[in-house]
Amino acid sequence: MNRENLRLYKLSLDTIIKPFKCSEQELNGFLFEDAKRFQTELMAVTYIFEDIEADVTAAYYSLLADKISFNPEEKRMWNRINRKIPNSKRRRTYPAVKIGRLAVDERYASCGLGTDIITQIKYALTETRRIGCRFLTVDALSSAIPFYEKNGFLFFSESDKDEETRLMFYDLKNFML
Ligand SMILES: CC(C)(COP(=O)(O)OP(=O)(O)OC[C@H]1O[C@@H](n2cnc3c(N)ncnc32)[C@H](O)[C@@H]1OP(=O)(O)O)[C@@H](O)C(=O)NCCC(=O)NCCS
Repeated sequence: MNRENLRLYKLSLDTIIKPFKCSEQELNGFLFEDAKRFQTELMAVTYIFEDIEADVTAAYYSLLADKISFNPEEKRMWNRINRKIPNSKRRRTYPAVKIGRLAVDERYASCGLGTDIITQIKYALTETRRIGCRFLTVDALSSAIPFYEKNGFLFFSESDKDEETRLMFYDLKNFML
C-alpha cells in the first residue's frame, strides 16, 4: 500500500463508490446500499479512503452522535470514568461520537490503516473543538475487539460479554495528554 495514493473524502449523493471488499459482508453491504441513505437522513456521515491509483476503496468509516450513560449495574466502570472528570462537571451522561462502521479492504488490511483512521478521528474530535465530545464509542464485533483494545478502547460493561458486539469506549481526554 502506498499511502501517498490514498485520498480521504466525505461521501455525497453523487459519489461513485469504488470497489470494496472486507471480511464482513454486512459492512460491504452498508457502503454500497445504505451509506447514502444514512447520510440523507442525517443518521451517519461516511468518509471514504480511496486509492486513486488502484481506483478502489481502501477503507471507509461512518460517524454519528452518541452518548454514554450511567448504568447502575456498572458502578465500578462509571466511577472509573468519573475519576478523570472534575466533581463539578460530573453528569449521568456524557457526550460521545460513535464509530458506526469502520472497515478496511482485505487488500489493505494489517498495514496500519485502521489504526491511522482511529487516530485521525481522535485528532479531529479533539483538535477542532467544534462540538463538545468526551468519548469515542463503538459497538465492536468480537473479531475486531483486539484491534480496538490496541487503540486504547475499554469495555463499558460486562453484561454484553456474550453478545455479538460489545460496547467499547475511548476517553478523548487521553489523546490530549
Ligand atoms: C478491524 C479492522 C478495521 C482493522 O484494520 P487494520 O487496518 O487491518 O488494522 P491495523 O493494521 O491498524 O491493526 C492494528 C493492530 O490491531 C491488530 N488487529 C487488527 N485486526 C485484528 C483482528 N481482527 N484480530 C486481532 N488483531 C487485530 C493488528 O494485528 C495490529 O496489531 P499490531 O499493532 O500489534 O501489529 C479491519 O481488519 C477490518 O476492516 N476488518 C473487517 C471489518 C471489521 O471487523 N470492522 C470493525 C467493525 S466493529
